[in-house]
Amino acid sequence: MKLLIINGPNLNMLGIREPAIYGAENYETLCRRILDFAAANHVEAELYQSNHEGDLVDKIQAAYFDGTDGIVINPGAYTHTSVALLDAVKAVGLPTVEVHISDVSAREDFRQVSYIRAACAATISGHGLAGYTEAMQLLLERAKA
Ligand code: DQA
Repeated sequence: MKLLIINGPNLNMLGIREPAIYGAENYETLCRRILDFAAANHVEAELYQSNHEGDLVDKIQAAYFDGTDGIVINPGAYTHTSVALLDAVKAVGLPTVEVHISDVSAREDFRQVSYIRAACAATISGHGLAGYTEAMQLLLERAKA
């Protein structure tokens, strides 16, 4: 099983960026947690981060052609703006779980819209970095079912 874990804009700034909201752990720590979970569960995990919407679209499209079985995505602020990311996930038809480190439901009004959610099997929000491995677990269970 191969999973693609995508992080959108500003998630490379974890640990520096608003630690009261996103925590003190950095992006490298997040990557390590994901790779450790993958190794323990005999899953191949590819990590990708970009600050650019079109690059995120390209990466989702590439997943269709390279044998990826599922996608975990934290689209960052593009969650609230991007029809292009929604369309990309719909286009590839791969099981996808939306993740947010913070609890977006308890934040500003402009964060209450998620375009990508309509194409996702589940959303995990407010579980911190653990949300990523919970999303991977969901995709594993779904694949077994
Ligand atoms: C986020 C929440 C978004 O509203 C924000 O723009 C982010 C991070 C989260 O992980 O909590 O960049 O997706």
